[in-house]
Formats: sequence, C-alpha cells, structure tokens
Amino acid sequence: MRIEKLAIEGGPQAITEAARRTIKKWPIAYPETAEHLKQAYLTGPWSFNGPCEKAFSKEFATYCGAKHGIFMANGTVTIESALHALGVGSGDEVIVPGNTWLATAMAAIYLGAKPVFVDVEPDTLCLDPEQVSAAITPKTKAIIPVHLFGSMADMDRIMKISRQTGIPVIEDCAHAHGGTWRGKGIGTIGQVGSFSFQESKTLPSGEGGICLTNNAKLADKLFRIKHIGYGQDQKQGMAANGPEAGLMCRNYRGVEFTAIILSDALKRLAAQTKLRDANAIAFAEMIKDVPGIKVQSRGRKADIQGYYNFVLLPDPAKLKDGISIHELNAALHAEGLPTNIGGYGPVYTHKLWNIGKNDFRVHSSAVVEETCRTRSLNIFHTWLLANRTTIKAMAKAVRKVMFAYT
Ligand SMILES: Cc1ncc(COP(=O)(O)O)c(C=O)c1O
Repeated sequence: MRIEKLAIEGGPQAITEAARRTIKKWPIAYPETAEHLKQAYLTGPWSFNGPCEKAFSKEFATYCGAKHGIFMANGTVTIESALHALGVGSGDEVIVPGNTWLATAMAAIYLGAKPVFVDVEPDTLCLDPEQVSAAITPKTKAIIPVHLFGSMADMDRIMKISRQTGIPVIEDCAHAHGGTWRGKGIGTIGQVGSFSFQESKTLPSGEGGICLTNNAKLADKLFRIKHIGYGQDQKQGMAANGPEAGLMCRNYRGVEFTAIILSDALKRLAAQTKLRDANAIAFAEMIKDVPGIKVQSRGRKADIQGYYNFVLLPDPAKLKDGISIHELNAALHAEGLPTNIGGYGPVYTHKLWNIGKNDFRVHSSAVVEETCRTRSLNIFHTWLLANRTTIKAMAKAVRKVMFAYT
C-alpha cells in the first residue's frame, strides 16, 4: 500500500514547517530562573555545599523516594563515586550493558576495575538478567543496569540476582528521571541510583549529577568522596573527624547555580514526564500496525516512564532491496522528523574507547551489535512534548516511509 509521495521524492512533508516550529529547543530557559541565578550571583555563596545545593539534594531525593541525595559535578563522577563507596577497586569486575554512554564503563576503569560488557534484551534494550547471571565471576563486585533512553532494566530480576549473590546494584538513571517501577522511583531500587543533569537530559542544568541512596552509611561515604573527605555540615578547616581509613576522597562538588536551575526545573518534571509518557504511548499505538517496524518496549513494570528518547526499531529483513537504515533515516528527515541512527555503542568500538584489550571483557553482545549497527532510529524527547496533532503527523511520517520502503 502506498499512501502519499514521499517528501524525499518531492511529495508533501508529513510534518509541516509550522508544526516543527512548535518543538522547543532544549534546554528551555525561564526568566524566573534567570532572576534566581542573578540573585545568587550577587549575594553568594556560589559553591561549597551552599543552601541551594542542600535544598535541591533533598527535593530530588524526596521526589524519587530516596532518603539521601548527594549532589555532584556530573553524572560520570556519580557512578565512579558509587562504585568507590561500594568498595570496588583494582582488579574487580563491573557488569555493564554494551550499549550505553562511555561514562558507565569508564567509571570502572577510573578505579582500576574491569568493565564486563553484557548483552541487552531485544525489546527494552536494557541489561539482560540471564546474561548478567552468566557473566558473574568471583571478581564481580557491582552490576550497573542502565535505564536506556528511559526504558527500564528488569529491576525485579536484577535485584533477585543481587540478593542471591550479594553483589550490589548501581542504577544508571541518566536517561530516566521521573520514571517509576512498581511504585518505586527509578534510582531507589538498587543500592545507589546515579543521575546526570547534563543539558540534553530531561532535568537539565548544563552539568551536574546526583547519587541517591537509602543507606545512611553509604550516603556519608559518598558525601566524603565528593568533598575531599569532609562530612555533611562540617565546616572548611580542621575537621572533627575524617573519612574511614583508606577511602580516597576527591573534589567532585557541584555549584549553587546548577542547583538553582534544577530546583526550578524539578517543579516542571512531573508534568513533563506525564506528557512525554502519554504521547509516547499514543505514538506507539498509532504506528503499531506499520509494517517492518517496532518500538523500544517500556520498562515491564513501569507505572510511568521518563522518556529520554523514543526509539524506532526497523527490521532490516523487511526492507526493500537497496533500502538500509540510512535511507530510512534520510526519508524521515525529509518528512520533517529528525531521527538519529543507532543511539549509542557498542561502547567498546567507540573511537573514544582507547582502553587496552585486557582492561575490559565482552561477555555477550549479539543484540547490542545488531541494534546499534542496523536497527535503531531515535527521536529526541522534546518531540514527546508536542501537541497531539504533531504526534499524529510524526506517526504519519513513519507510516509513509515504512509503507514505501517495505
Ligand atoms: C547512560 C549515561 N550514563 C552516564 C552519563 C554521564 O553523565 P554526565 O555527562 O553528566 O557525566 C551519561 C551522559 O550522557 C549517560 O547517557
């Protein structure tokens, strides 16, 4: 069935210029936040665990349902600090998915540990619990599921493995702000949840990150790691007590300005997450009968999902001769829908991954390799804040292209 001439062949665009103009540039700047920033700049303090940082850490932890929030400079040092606080060090192994941003695996490398890349489930694109079990060795000291693009790793099964083996879990929630799994905030299910507030994220501040935990001892360790050894509420100068013997501490502190941006942004997160989630569900429903394409599944027990990307999964075997993911991508762009091929990874093939062959291990990767190289087309989260007319136009773009190319 052929619906309409494709835009790439000179036909009308499915998504009009006017509809595209309604898609907001991300991050969005708000005048009231600019005013709050100006006040903080004029009056100080600017950093050093100031009142805004303290307030945001509490607000975000409460929002997610965690007891403690430890604010840091970015979402890479949060993962490194979480591993460090859990005792991971030289020679240990850390299980990570193969399709994530470099930071998830680099965090292990920074501590002299070895990332072990493990395959993902073909539907959620998140860590496959069966593969996790198979990859565990006596050296495994942490498991890092990544809630990729907002979908959720199977936390029930991963936590079961954790309980059976005693291996702690750090949730990498850089893509999943505001999602909940069976009533629990994402980032509060494992021993530590790590979030990034880098500017593309759904809770953005330029740079920034936070660790969430329900464990007071871990919270104290995390705070000391990021604050050169000082504990919460200790004043600069001679401290009354220091970190436990041997705990190497750093300066991974954040600043007041990012905390101010985040406190304001947090007030909008619930409504934005709800809108993205509802639009994603509607969009998926609109294209469910389109041939040759699936979408990344939601987390199996997601009540609400914090979408970072909406991921289309075309099946290369169903495409006409001569049509690859590149032609699909070009045709969707021509229709007015800017998709990205592949998302991440495989991490260990990235040009920036200049780590020695013996310093990491690929345990299993068939799904990661296939998904990253040939299957996924990602749509950035700002499109999920669109009105329903634009969501329908997005569905039309997918429908037109897939009917023409399958
Ligand atoms: C999955 C994942 N983990 C960790 C990070 C690291 O966050 P940051 O850029 O704040 O260091 C990112 C950032 O893009 C990410 O996508």
